[in-house]
Amino acid sequence: MSALLQELRAMIAAEGPLSVERYMQLCLQHPVHGYYTSKMPFGRAGDFITAPEVSQMFGELAGLWAAQVWLDMGSPAGVRLVEIGPGRGTMMADVLRVARGVPGFLEAIDLHLVETSPVLREAQRRTLEAAPLTPVWHAAIETLPDGPAIFLANEFFDALPVRHYVRSETGWHERQVGLGSDGDLVFGAAAETIGLPSLAGRPGDILEIGHVARAVMTVLASRIASQGGALLVWDYGHAESGLGETLQAVAGHAFADPLAHPGEADLTVHVDFAMLRRAAEAAGAAVHGPVTQGLWLERLGIFERARRLKAKASAAQSAEIDSALGRLTAPNSTMATLFKVLAVVQKDMRPPGFED
Ligand SMILES: C[S@@+](CC[C@H](N)C(=O)[O-])C[C@H]1O[C@@H](n2cnc3c(N)ncnc32)[C@H](O)[C@@H]1O
Repeated sequence: MSALLQELRAMIAAEGPLSVERYMQLCLQHPVHGYYTSKMPFGRAGDFITAPEVSQMFGELAGLWAAQVWLDMGSPAGVRLVEIGPGRGTMMADVLRVARGVPGFLEAIDLHLVETSPVLREAQRRTLEAAPLTPVWHAAIETLPDGPAIFLANEFFDALPVRHYVRSETGWHERQVGLGSDGDLVFGAAAETIGLPSLAGRPGDILEIGHVARAVMTVLASRIASQGGALLVWDYGHAESGLGETLQAVAGHAFADPLAHPGEADLTVHVDFAMLRRAAEAAGAAVHGPVTQGLWLERLGIFERARRLKAKASAAQSAEIDSALGRLTAPNSTMATLFKVLAVVQKDMRPPGFED
């Protein structure tokens, strides 16, 4: 039995069932046994692969996007370049390589990484050892210094815990994680109903709400509206809000039962882009998208970039570039269509990749 499962059993026995939000929070961020506290989730031996790990082209286009945004801001000095949830630091290394080619950009920015995982902070430090800027790490967005900022967040919002509500004949109840008769973790629902008046629903329906994601977006968008800058979010999710739940566990590149391996499997949800959009607009920022990731990459010039890389590549490298290109842009690829891109910007800005 995992150490976290033991602790969760004791916690539930003493205090009663946990909300889905608290369960997710503990599985991912428990100070000792949390998935992100103790694991290296990437790579062949890890649990998943992300777009910047598929190809350097992803981070290079992210770098071009950031540089264009900075030019559109009027090339100011003292801009924060912030990556939230930087993984192994692969994307930021590619971003900074591109940044070197834009006169004045590197001199104008200082680099901040928001990361909770000590394992991944160490990986980021190693990846960025030779980078032209030295990062400052933060455990949360609240400690970032004030000032205009360009934020990048790939596959970050899907890792934020959500609440679930279950509809009964009499109303909505918070979905909870409790103990079954054999001591296994099981889903249940709180006895009391909770006021979600605008929603009808039918008995058995489940509603998923990312209160944490909404709060994070509100902080970032308010900051962009009042101090200037932009945020780019890439993630898997849906463009419209709706009923249903999307909590999923992944371990060793395969889906798993979300209650079966607490702390050992990655837990994520599909991002509700419509909700993020509403939160950003309510905070006073302008919002563009979401557009599909495949379309965004195409608009930023991924096919041209692949052509140039292939011009100097061996046959084996060319085949790798084509395979990555397919994974990122083919209409039947998850990374091209389920993944979406959303930009939150200061009022007067038209960010690249969203022209329609
Ligand atoms: C799925 S990984 C994506 C990594 C990277 N962006 C990439 O594309 O390879 C999620 C990242 O977000 C970080 N993370 C998760 N929850 C976080 C939180 N609440 N605050 C800050 N970072 C968090 C993880 O440690 C990890 O770096």
